Amino acid sequence: MSSALSASQIREAFLKFFEERGHRRVASSSLVPQNDPSLLFTNAGMVQFKDVFTGREKREYSRATTSQKCVRAGGKHNDLDNVGYTARHHTFFEMLGNFSFGDYFKPDAIAYGWEFVTKTLGLDKARLAVTVFNGEGGIPWDEEAFELWAKQGVSRDRILKLGLKDNFWAMGDTGPCGPCSEIHYHQGDDIPCAEVTAGRQCKGVACDCDRWLEIWNLVFMQFERKEKDAPLIPLPKPSIDTGAGLERIASVVQGKRSNYDTDLFQSILSRVSELVGKPYSQEGGASMRVVADHSRAAAFLIADGVQPSNEGRGYVLRRIMRRAIRHGSLLGLDELFFFKVVDRVIELMGEAYPELRDGRTFILEVCKHEEESFRRTLNRGMKLIDEEVARMKQSGAKVLSGEKVWELHGTYGFPWDLTEIILKERGFEADIAGYEKLKKEEAEKGTDEGGISKDKAIATVHLKLLERLGPTEFLGYEGVGHEGEGSVRAIINKGGVELTEAQEGDEVELVLDRTPFYGESGGQVGDTGRIVGHGGKAVAQVLDAQRPVQGLIVHQVKVTQGTLKVGDMVQAGVDGQRRSSIRANHSATHLLHKALKMVLGEHVKQAGSVVAPDYLRFDFSHFSPMTPEQQEQVEDLVNGWIRENAESQTRVMNLEDAKKSGAVAMFGEKYGETVRVVTVHPQSTELCGGTHVRRSGDIGLFKVTGESGVASGVRRIIAVTGLGAIQYMRETERELKKAAELLKTSPKDLVKRVESTQKRVKELEHKIEEMAVKAQAGSSKDLLEQARDINGMKVLATRMDPADPNVFRGLADQLRDRMKSGVVVIGGEKDGKVVLLVAATKDVVARGIHAGNLLKEMAKEVNGRGGGKPDLAQGGGEDPSRIPNAFDKFYELVKGTNLS
Ligand code: SER
Repeated sequence: MSSALSASQIREAFLKFFEERGHRRVASSSLVPQNDPSLLFTNAGMVQFKDVFTGREKREYSRATTSQKCVRAGGKHNDLDNVGYTARHHTFFEMLGNFSFGDYFKPDAIAYGWEFVTKTLGLDKARLAVTVFNGEGGIPWDEEAFELWAKQGVSRDRILKLGLKDNFWAMGDTGPCGPCSEIHYHQGDDIPCAEVTAGRQCKGVACDCDRWLEIWNLVFMQFERKEKDAPLIPLPKPSIDTGAGLERIASVVQGKRSNYDTDLFQSILSRVSELVGKPYSQEGGASMRVVADHSRAAAFLIADGVQPSNEGRGYVLRRIMRRAIRHGSLLGLDELFFFKVVDRVIELMGEAYPELRDGRTFILEVCKHEEESFRRTLNRGMKLIDEEVARMKQSGAKVLSGEKVWELHGTYGFPWDLTEIILKERGFEADIAGYEKLKKEEAEKGTDEGGISKDKAIATVHLKLLERLGPTEFLGYEGVGHEGEGSVRAIINKGGVELTEAQEGDEVELVLDRTPFYGESGGQVGDTGRIVGHGGKAVAQVLDAQRPVQGLIVHQVKVTQGTLKVGDMVQAGVDGQRRSSIRANHSATHLLHKALKMVLGEHVKQAGSVVAPDYLRFDFSHFSPMTPEQQEQVEDLVNGWIRENAESQTRVMNLEDAKKSGAVAMFGEKYGETVRVVTVHPQSTELCGGTHVRRSGDIGLFKVTGESGVASGVRRIIAVTGLGAIQYMRETERELKKAAELLKTSPKDLVKRVESTQKRVKELEHKIEEMAVKAQAGSSKDLLEQARDINGMKVLATRMDPADPNVFRGLADQLRDRMKSGVVVIGGEKDGKVVLLVAATKDVVARGIHAGNLLKEMAKEVNGRGGGKPDLAQGGGEDPSRIPNAFDKFYELVKGTNLS
């Protein structure tokens, strides 16, 4: 099979085949579905065309072909635990597809499919079978498709009729859907089948086993479901959505029985095996397959802007990465390895998906960080399990409760299956059923998947409005863009109910047909201002403007005078000064983005932004804090471009051209067919729907006011521009002046003054200490008179409050000098604590006195600890009331010492 097509060749052959048949080759969309809260990840080729099928969105072509990145993990299609153990399950896969938006229908779709499979790929017709919809749930059986297949030459006994479960396709609970028809490939009856093992017959094409493999799904898009469980509504025009998993096609074409044996995975598996130091084999290779599969998902998800976290998409990514890392550990990989495998994925697929290459540094950093933190978690989890095991041993329990397993999983990110394995090794069990129950409850609460579906209900009323009224025309791009006339098209109250009018005092949402108000999006906050009707008799204050669904601008207003009705002509006026500040901050954000790329590197990608009137906030991928020099460089670049006062340009062009022109597009943004390309300065060109300055000089001044970390690998810059920057500098200057005044100097000499003041303070502190020692020294003579004579040496215990170790030391030195031969303890109290210091002259040390040992015993008397050298020791304790007892002990011990 060495001459078989490689996966890349199959991908290219497919796209070319359909291009030659009038299809537009469209790039894969992001794995993060845009403006679609109903979906966790892009899970099929049609996702990016969802609105085109339903007629909500128009494109300039009616046929398209793609190779789409897909992830099925988490949410509806959750196969994560199977991945690695079967020949077919993947978290990430590529789906080849051809699409018709109201253009051709069943006859062409079927003819194209058959031609590609049998001619281009040259698959043996004798091994092929197809299925059609048998009619169920009130939808008639697909006789047309049946006859069309027969016309292609498929023998009638190879055309099977199957029901809703197999031959009706829907993206999710809502969206376009329709009956489908599949092409299956016969791999061989020697493949194990669970039915046969259980003593029954294999169900052939309809069976779950791999003897017959589905390789292509042709969906005849005919309906739309607008809400969960709602009746099906016919689509404006019947359409086609087909999907063929590249991994499966490759395995069939290359004559392999497992996707993992295709060239798509071989190179990744050999990297894993190289790291492990053992060859890969089909049997016992599950862990290697897990690592190989998951490294693809991680590379692509991170490239599309997902980062491991504890909620939503980030949580699913984290689970995938941690599962891979754990399997790496099982393979004996103790050091960071995952990024090395991911790097192989980038090498392998970077050509077909350039976002992998562009994001390489960042992707690898994210992988390293996640592995480091997970390895710490593993260690912590092991400790917790050890504690639980100890507890169970004591109580005689054999099973760890579901709650504990859940706690380990939920709180510490410790995977349940690992908990189970470790417990087994120690002779215990885990209540996995109990854990599953808790997990289900949490999932129902919506916390496990991060509550992706919550926004759905809120958006419905706006979606309906958008459908009925069409998009709001935004007047803010042209001219000054602060004023405009429009008519009231809808009024909605807080509960989402439509009204015909709003009166003084009402707080409602207003939708106009055209408006100069910018609805919050792309980080830029919504405008505020006034909407006035009836020649000034009706007035509404606009508190905010939102864009709850793409295309619809909604004004949050409070009517302060008169009554506004649906149909009224109104004057809409944006707070101009506020808008100007927003413009400056938005344009500055673009310049900042570019400057960061230049100073820190191309790995810098926008990870979120806020453009407000009084500040801008920019989050971006980067791993270490910026140095003050880097911050200055960025400021200098941006201010340089501002001073050049370049005229900004906005061009409206189609998305492909825009990308070709090198404009920076963000992840997580949905772009229509035509996009706005904003050039604030020749250095910076971005796709952007926001409002911008006319000339870069309008920004005035750019000043960074803060730089910090927000998440692992994400930094945040806060900055101000124009008047805001001047205000910021002025405030800083005012504080500086105040400080200078307090220190009786000028701001220019402030640092010098602070330094000299600090020096002076230190000198004074030192002097005070010296004086205290001297004062004590004066009394050291008297003190010596109190010393006892024991075995020819002077022995003295003396108290001094408040205690100060420095002073004690000074005094001890003097006492030692004066008494020539002896041992002394000084004790005292400070802040409720005991301080003790013992000092001995050299000769008594030579005779057997040991200050450290003496101190140790005395410290016990005051409930404390201490020790030290034979000639000097220091310590303390908790009980000052027992200082006299410590002194008694001292005399007693010295007396009892055997001296030489
Ligand atoms: N949407 C269908 C599928 O995912 C065909 O592309 O199978």
